[in-house]
Formats: sequence, structure tokens, C-alpha cells
Amino acid sequence: MEKILEITNVSKSFGKVKAVDNISFNVTKGEMLAYLGVNGAGKSTTISMICGTLKGDSGSIKVCGEDIKKNSNYTKNKIGVVFQNSVLDQTLTVYDNLKYRASLYGITGNKFRERFVTLEKMFDLKEIKNQKVKTLSGGQRRRVDIARAIIHNPEFLILDEPTTGLDPNTRKNIWNIIRYLRKNNGMTVFLTTHYMEETTDADFIIIIDKGKIIAKGSPLDLKNKYAKDIIRIYHINEEDVKKLKLPYRKINDGYKIEIENTTLATDLIVENKEIFKDYEITKGKMDDVFLNATGNRIEDVYEENN
Ligand SMILES: Nc1ncnc2c1ncn2[C@@H]1O[C@H](COP(=O)(O)OP(=O)(O)OP(=O)(O)O)[C@@H](O)[C@H]1O
Ligand SMILES: [Mg+2]
Repeated sequence: MEKILEITNVSKSFGKVKAVDNISFNVTKGEMLAYLGVNGAGKSTTISMICGTLKGDSGSIKVCGEDIKKNSNYTKNKIGVVFQNSVLDQTLTVYDNLKYRASLYGITGNKFRERFVTLEKMFDLKEIKNQKVKTLSGGQRRRVDIARAIIHNPEFLILDEPTTGLDPNTRKNIWNIIRYLRKNNGMTVFLTTHYMEETTDADFIIIIDKGKIIAKGSPLDLKNKYAKDIIRIYHINEEDVKKLKLPYRKINDGYKIEIENTTLATDLIVENKEIFKDYEITKGKMDDVFLNATGNRIEDVYEENN
């Protein structure tokens, strides 16, 4: 399988702060990696090093098989990046921002006009193309940020919190575009997000904490490892639930128990058929994975009640 990103033993410190601490991982062509971590974990620092805007202290980074230090022109052309903070020129129009960006990749004249038509359609830019960037709403600006990032049709798209602060509808639109790019252009995606539900599509998840990888695997692997299964038992009285000798919580129409994994849940149900007459079992959520892996505990207030 072709590797699009190879990170080997990469570190970066700012004074005493080890922002990225000996990190290694690969991303394969066509994959989507979700790179997660609490604020300050080192996500954006990792991205800046991949893009070459920040020099690492040690280790090596390869993009599409080439070392970013030895062949930076090649690797920069392969990458499209949406930075956490928009890098558009606020005083220029949407059209001029894209035109300027395209010119840096040698896309000018008719070639640019053709490219703009495609992007205009994909990102719904018709209404806003002559507006100055400083007058755009957050969601509109994000669409232009992504259009800018993919102007040269890169192989590898890096998105640093692309949907933070956007309303659910705009988030959905942005996700439709990302899915389209993956499906139709075979784009490989590196995503950071604080919205755990956005990681369901990921092939691979890496969770970092204080610059170190603390968990990695598919969404399912991580759920199995870090989140408990939840069994909701309905139409049952409390005396019967107590017989299971497990912590439980009252919910609408019944009780909820958490259990380490699905195998243990199956054993419990088989051994207590008289109690489990009406029940459902679900896997924990990515929120639980994140909170458990990063060592935080779920507050009761966030617990759903059914
Ligand atoms: N240019 C810099 N100078 C000094 N310290 C920095 C610099 N850039 C990042 N840091 C520090 O490095 C650590 C990692 O920061 P980084 O921006 O990579 O975190 P992040 O995971 O992207 O967080 P967030 O979710 O808040 O965006 C933080 O402690 C931050 O203060
Ligand atoms: Mg960041």
C-alpha cells in the first residue's frame, strides 16, 4: 500500500514544552486519519511540521515517499492544508484570494478560470465570489479556506479543525465536500477535530496527549479498548437489577449498566436470562474513548438519560 505520510520519531519543543514528543505513524493512500487530543496536545504543531512551516527538532517526515527537507517543492505540491486559523487575505475578494493562490502553483489564465468554475460549483461560491474575505461569515470563510487548500488538486488534504464553531448545517455541508473529495479524487485526509462524531468515517484514529501518542487504532478497536458496552434493561424492578451485583443507573423505563466488553455482556445475559427479557446493548461512544484515553472522567451531567 502506498504511503502518503511517514512520520518517524518526530519531536518539537518550545523551550521547556515538549509539544511533539517522539511521534511515529504512517497514513496510507486513500485513508482518513483522525488526529485527536485535548487543547495544547500538539496537533497543530505536528501539522505545521508536515507542511514545512515549522522545523522539527528531530526525526523524519516523508510525504508521498519524499523527505520534506530534501524535496520540499515536491512535497508542498502534494499537500493541501486548511490551517486552524484562516490564512486568507482579508482585504482581497474570494476570487482574488483563489486566483493569487493558484498563481503560486502556476495555475493562471484559462487554466485558473476553468479551475474556478469547478470550485465555484463544489463550494457554492457564486454568491460570495466578489465579496471581500473580511465580510464573510465563519462558515462561508471555511468553504473558501478549503477551496484554497485544494486549488492545485493535492494528493493529501490536511484539515486542522475545519468545522469548529460552525452551525450543524454548515458542518454537514463541509463534510459532504470532504466525503466527495475522498470518493471522487481519492484524496487522503488528515483531520483534527474536537467533534468526536466526525471520527466515525475515519479509517484510523490517533489520540495524542502532551505530545505523545497514547492510543491508536480503528474506531471499533478504540471503542473495544476504551469504552464500555452499555446494556439497557427494560420492564424490570430494582431488586432484580441488584442481583447482577454491578453498578447501575435508573433510566426511563428501566436501568442501565456498563460492562467491560461485549463478550462479558453476552455471558451476563446468558447467565441471567430471567432478568434480561427486554434489553438493548450498545457500544460506548467515541466521546467515552476520548475521555477515558486522555484520563478524564465523564461528568454525570453529560450522561444521557435513556
Ligand atoms: N510558536 C510557539 N511558541 C511557543 N509555544 C508553542 C508554539 N506553538 C505551540 N506551542 C505550545 O505547544 C503546545 C502544543 O500546541 P498545539 O498548537 O500544537 O496544540 P493543539 O493540539 O493544536 O491544541 P488546540 O486543540 O488548542 O488547537 C502547547 O503547549 C502550545 O502552547
Ligand atoms: Mg491546534
